[in-house]
Amino acid sequence: MENVSLNIHKEEMTKDEFAKLSNSIFNICGINLPEVKKILIEGRIRKRMIHLGIDTFSAYINYLYSIKGAEEEVIPLIDVITTNKTDFFRENQHFEYLTNSVLPEIIQNPEGDKKNKVFQFWSAGCSTGEEPYTMSIVLSEFQLKNPGFQFEIYASDISTDVLNKASIGIFELDKIEVIPEQMKKKYLLRSKDPDKKTFRIVPELRNKVHFSRVNFMEDNYDIQDNLNVIFCRNVIIYFDRQTQEKVLKNLSRKLIKGGYLFIGHSETIMGMNIPLVRVASTIYQKV
Ligand SMILES: C[S@@+](CC[C@H](N)C(=O)[O-])C[C@H]1O[C@@H](n2cnc3c(N)ncnc32)[C@H](O)[C@@H]1O
Repeated sequence: MENVSLNIHKEEMTKDEFAKLSNSIFNICGINLPEVKKILIEGRIRKRMIHLGIDTFSAYINYLYSIKGAEEEVIPLIDVITTNKTDFFRENQHFEYLTNSVLPEIIQNPEGDKKNKVFQFWSAGCSTGEEPYTMSIVLSEFQLKNPGFQFEIYASDISTDVLNKASIGIFELDKIEVIPEQMKKKYLLRSKDPDKKTFRIVPELRNKVHFSRVNFMEDNYDIQDNLNVIFCRNVIIYFDRQTQEKVLKNLSRKLIKGGYLFIGHSETIMGMNIPLVRVASTIYQKV
């Protein structure tokens, strides 16, 4: 293994190899990799090569295109390629808008029988879980002030690595610092091991979040219909415009009429033919 690892660190990916690999990645998950990302991608692929004991990029690409590789390497490749940066209360103005505008409105005008209504939320591209768990904190806080309000949260990602981490719901101290103190007390449990500075989301919140794998490149997303709110933030930024429009159309189909879509602060639906109207910066409502 050591010799393989030494060779791999010397090896450089050719332009053709990069083109072939970035083309496969685009077809698998829609992620666009311009040439400036070559060094970054080389580093990430090297990790897979060391793991597999493969010492050249061309051998790795051949493996990816083989029957065994197509079956076994696609998911680990996606796991190293995706950018999973996320935080609790990221772009907090979205959670404020949810609490102050969306939730009061939807409980006033629920579709169907108000008493039996369970409102449905989706964190689409949830990474390691900070986004859906922030949603569950915010929705639980709203529930305390509005008894009878019920909710379920779906959370999905293409990467199985991040989904595994998310469903365990354990976070390091530096990750949870941003959570307001009184919410930490209510919704986090400190590890019993005094040497570990880790915190776990309480079971009541974990039980509210249902994790599953969804690839936005597929035609049908295996997620509940008639959702009230979808957060799909900092995901489409990695796609080209045509893919962005296709994904946003599919997401809007999942919304109930009057439902809301939240996208990342540097994303836009401007100029796209999607049945959504802007209600605030990066927040849209289905018409
Ligand atoms: C930067 S994270 C954003 C996490 C969170 N939404 C936030 O804003 O903090 C982007 C996530 O999108 C996921 N992703 C990328 N391509 C995807 C695809 N084709 N289908 C589903 N998820 C994808 C990645 O795995 C990654 O976890």
